[in-house]
Amino acid sequence: HDGWVCAGNADQIQNADVLRIDAAGHTYAIYRNQAGDLFATEGICTHGNAHLAEGLVIGDEIECPKHNGRFALSDGHATRAPACVALERYPVEQRGEKLWLNTA
Ligand code: FES
Repeated sequence: HDGWVCAGNADQIQNADVLRIDAAGHTYAIYRNQAGDLFATEGICTHGNAHLAEGLVIGDEIECPKHNGRFALSDGHATRAPACVALERYPVEQRGEKLWLNTA
């Protein structure tokens, strides 16, 4: 299997929003920035045990809900302390009305 899993309807995520996806025993977060571009990362903050889907998309960054660390959506690198370890990124795309996430 090539790693692509259906992550539900594309209209679940508004611009500047984040969605939690649980697939294959892992938690992921799928984002749209203000322009509507899609991004996906691991769903748990690398600093602590917090779900990034409960955080805020601010510009092209996700702000963790727990200690307000931030990460760039584009490449996952940490942009604000106390976050310092980059998030793993995953390919995500919209096909028709569905979102597809590659968890491989
Ligand atoms: Fe995310 Fe601390 S758990 S910044």
